[in-house]
Amino acid sequence: MNKAVILAGGQGKRMKADMPKPLFKVLGEPMLHWVTTACEAAGVADICVVKGFRGEMIDEYLDGKYTTVLQAERLGTGHAVQQAIPFLENDKSGNTLVLCGDAPFIDEETIKKSLAVHEQQGNAVTVITAELDNPFGYGRIIRSANGISGIVEQKDATEEQKAVKEVNSGAYWFRTADLVELLGKLDNNNAQNEYYLTDTVYIAISEGKNAGAFKSDNADIIRGANDRNDLLELNTYARMAVIKKHLVNGIEFTCTDGVIIERGVEIGVGTEILPNTILRGNTVIGKNCKIGPNVMAENCRIGDNASLNTVQACDSEIESGVNVGPYVHIRPGSVIKSEARIGDFVEVKNSVIGEKTAIAHLAYVGDSDIGKRVNIGCGTVTVNYDGVAKSRCVIGDNCFIGCNTNLIAPVKLGKAVYTAAGTTVTRDVPDYALAIDRGVMKVNEGYTLRKLRTKLENK
Ligand code: UD1
Ligand code: CA
Repeated sequence: MNKAVILAGGQGKRMKADMPKPLFKVLGEPMLHWVTTACEAAGVADICVVKGFRGEMIDEYLDGKYTTVLQAERLGTGHAVQQAIPFLENDKSGNTLVLCGDAPFIDEETIKKSLAVHEQQGNAVTVITAELDNPFGYGRIIRSANGISGIVEQKDATEEQKAVKEVNSGAYWFRTADLVELLGKLDNNNAQNEYYLTDTVYIAISEGKNAGAFKSDNADIIRGANDRNDLLELNTYARMAVIKKHLVNGIEFTCTDGVIIERGVEIGVGTEILPNTILRGNTVIGKNCKIGPNVMAENCRIGDNASLNTVQACDSEIESGVNVGPYVHIRPGSVIKSEARIGDFVEVKNSVIGEKTAIAHLAYVGDSDIGKRVNIGCGTVTVNYDGVAKSRCVIGDNCFIGCNTNLIAPVKLGKAVYTAAGTTVTRDVPDYALAIDRGVMKVNEGYTLRKLRTKLENK
C-alpha cells in the first residue's frame, strides 16, 4: 500500500513563535492540514508525521489521526525520514510519498501524476520538481540522458549548477523497499554536515536503480514560509486563488478588500460578496444572496436570496429570504427560518426564529423557540439565565411582544399572545391572551416647577 511521510520538525525560528512551523495557518488551516488533505485527496491515507520542535503540539493537533515519530535532533531531511523507518517497514510493498509539512500548496494532481510517472518508469525515487525564475536556496536538479543524476544543494553547488532553474520541491515518491535501503546509506559529508534526503538520488543511481524527476505544472507547490512575511504571502496567494475560483463560478465581487474566504466555503451563483467579509469553515451560502459589508460567518448554512450586512454568525442556519443586520450577532445553535428579519443590535443564541418573524432592533433572544409571524418589540429580553441554570422561552405563532418585555425563562406563551410594553412575564400565558404587568401610572402636576424654581426663574 502507498503511504506518506510528512516532515514537520521545523521550528521556524524566524517566525518568532513557540510553535512548530507546520501549524501556522494559511487561510485558516494549519499548513500541515493542507498537506494531509492533498495526500488524502490523492488516495494516500496512511501517513506518518515526523515531529521535532514542540512535537507534543503536533500530537495534540493530530489527535491520534496519523502515526507520528520524533526526530529528537535536527540532523537533516534524510535523518528526519530515517526516524520513520519502523513505519516504512510495516509494509514495504508499495510506494512512499515524502512531503514537507510547511509547503501547503502540494496538490492532488501533482501527487497522482508524479506517482503514475514513478511507476511507469520503474523508479526507485522520483523527485517532484518545479521551475523557478529565482531558484536561489533550493536544491538544483541535475538532469542526465535517462532521468536525473542528482540534486545539488545551494551551498554545495558550482556556479554552473547554480544557473539551473529546475529545483527540488522537497516532495518525492520512493519505492518503499528502496527508500529503507537508501536511508541506511546516507552520510553527512557535505557543506552543512546534514544527512541529505536528496543524496538518495545519486546513491540509487550508483546502485543501478532508476531515478526520475517529475516537473509539476504548478510551481506554487514549492512555496513555503520561513518568516511571517512569507506566511502573509502564502495567505495572500491562497486568498486570491479562492476568490478567483468563486469568480469563475459566477459570484460577484466589486472589491475584494478585507474579503477572506476559506477553502471549504461554498457559494451559490449570483451571490454578491461585499468588502470585509470573512467566510470560514464549512459555510454554505445559497444563490443570489448579498453578503457584507462586514460579515463574519463560520460554519453557517445560508439559504437563497438572504441578505447579511454587518453580522457575526457562527454554527447557525439562516434560511432563504432572511434579512439580517446591521450589527447583529447570531450565536451557535440558531436557526433563522425563511423570510425572518433580524435588525440592528439584536443578539440571537441557540434559538429558533420562525418564518416571517421580525426582531427589528435592540433585543436579546437566547435559548428560545419563537413561532411564525411573531413581532418582537424593541428592548425585549429573554431572561434565560438565573445565575445557575439556563432555561428556554417558547413563543407561539403570531405573538406580539411589546417593547421592553422581559420573559423570565422557563416560560411559554401560546398562540397570538400580546404582551404590553414593559411587562415582565413570569408565568405561562394561554393562547390569545394579553399579559400586562404595570404599576398604575401617577401624574404629579407642577412637580418640576416646585423642584427647579430657582433654576427656571434665573433663565
Ligand atoms: C530541502 C532540500 C532541497 C529542496 C528544499 C525544498 C535537502 C537536503 N534539501 O532543502 O533540495 O529544494 O528542501 O524546500 O533535503 N526537516 C526536518 N528535519 C531536519 C531538517 C529538515 O524535519 O533535520 C524538515 C523541515 O522542517 C522542512 C523540510 O524538512 O519541512 C525541508 O527542510 P528545509 O531545511 O526547509 O529544507 P532544505 O534543507 O533547505
Ligand atoms: Ca537545511
